[in-house]
This record gives sequence, structure tokens and C-alpha cells, in this order.
Amino acid sequence: MRVAFLGPPGAGKGTQARELAREWGVPHVATGDMLREAAAARTPLGLEAKRYMDLGALVPDEVVVGAAAERLGAPDAARGFILDGFPRTIAQAEALARLLKDAGHALDMVLYFDVSEPELLRRLTGRRVCRACGHTYHLTSSPPKRAGVCDACGGELYQRVDDSEATVRNRLEVYRKQTSPLLDYYRQRNMLTTVSGEGPVEAIRDAIRAAVGAAR
Ligand code: AP5
Repeated sequence: MRVAFLGPPGAGKGTQARELAREWGVPHVATGDMLREAAAARTPLGLEAKRYMDLGALVPDEVVVGAAAERLGAPDAARGFILDGFPRTIAQAEALARLLKDAGHALDMVLYFDVSEPELLRRLTGRRVCRACGHTYHLTSSPPKRAGVCDACGGELYQRVDDSEATVRNRLEVYRKQTSPLLDYYRQRNMLTTVSGEGPVEAIRDAIRAAVGAAR
């Protein structure tokens, strides 16, 4: 299955993709995680990307498309993948379609996570992430057992630089202007399925499983 998870920042794409990729035995390809790893490793690409990410702006299309193309060309992505946070512009969607077509494939479906703006703001400003394994927590809705420590691996929890309230507001604006046009783009191609991204994590996961199962 070649699926893309689409939705605003904080919609729960990463929370669901991480678990479902494991379940389905396909890679979770998250451009945000890839760019953060490159920034932490201080590669030239990572350092360039960090300037945009810290402001909540999109990293230029050519940078992201190059990174995604490389990742999707890896052997473990040959049987399928979950894309998380890519594509994010029409230009990225077109580049993705071209690169999959060249490999004799196509995207099977795009799942849109529908979440209200006040809930997105609440989720992002309360999010904490494990520095070691990437597991995501929320200070009130899914707190770790010990403050600041990952339940899964004991790693240190931190707050992303772009999860401050001012930067979150900018990310939501960027989403509205640059990413939300993808909803019509994929709807017109009969590829879009909407799931509610609000409610218990497990119930949302069941809705995703049902939507993907129905498309198979
Ligand atoms: P990226 O890392 O992709 O961030 P994002 O899209 O803004 O998405 P988030 O990771 O913030 O949210 P999410 O939907 O994954 O939610 P999560 O599951 O964590 O991108 C960061 C930056 O990188 C961008 O701003 C840009 O600069 C750059 N970038 C990345 N891709 C790019 C691209 N393609 N083109 C250009 N630039 C790109 O959940 C959020 C919180 O909510 C967590 O605390 C979680 O525990 C909680 N939560 C999850 N589900 C629920 C639920 N059902 N109920 C209650 N709480 C929940």
C-alpha cells in the first residue's frame, strides 16, 4: 500500500503513521523527521532546512523532493510506504506522481486528518518528543509516567523549537495557504479519504485501518 497522510500540523499523522507502518511492515517516511535528523547531524542540507523549520516555514520544494526521492528509492520502500508530511505543495505532489510513475507505481490513497484549529494548538504546544526514539507524548492527554522521561526507552523528552505558540500559529497559516490546496487536488483525482483526527488514538487508528482496507 502506498499511502500519504495529509493534514495540518498536530493532526496526529506521526502518532498514527509510526504505529501503522510497523503493523503493515512498510517504512514510515516523514520528511519532517528526515529534515530534523539532517539538522541534528549538521549536514549542509540539514542546516539549510533548519532555517525554515525554526520559523515554521516550508523548506524549498527541490530540497524536500530530493530527500524524499532518495528515501523512496531505498529497497525497503519497494513494497509500499506511509508518507507523513509529504507532499505539502502542489509542486511536491506532481513531483511525487512523476517519480512513482517512473518506477511503475502510483499513490493508492491520501488520508486527510480533519482536526479543529483550537485542538491543533492545544496538541502542539503540549507536545513532548523523545530525543532517542521519537515517541510522542502530550503533557495532559498522553503524559509519560515520569516527567521528562520516555516510557518506551528512558530517553530524554524535549519540546520542538517550532512548537512554541507563535511558531505554531505561523505553521497553521502556512498550512492553510500552501498545503490545504492539496485537498482539492487529490479530491479531483478521487484519491482523498477523510478521517476525523479527533477522539481516542485507537479509534482513529481503527478508522484508518477500515479506510485503507476498503481501498485494497
Ligand atoms: P513535520 O515534522 O512534518 O511537522 P507537521 O506536519 O507540522 O506535523 P507535526 O509533526 O507537528 O504533527 P503530526 O500531525 O505528526 O502530529 P503528532 O502525531 O506529532 O514538519 C516540521 C517542519 O519541517 C515543517 O514546518 C517544515 O519546515 C519542514 N517540512 C517537513 N516536511 C516538509 C515538506 N514536505 N515540505 C516542506 N517543508 C517540510 O501529534 C501532535 C500531538 O498531539 C502529540 O503531542 C500527540 O501526542 C497528540 N495527539 C496525537 N493524536 C492525538 C489524539 N487523537 N488525541 C489527543 N492528542 C493527540
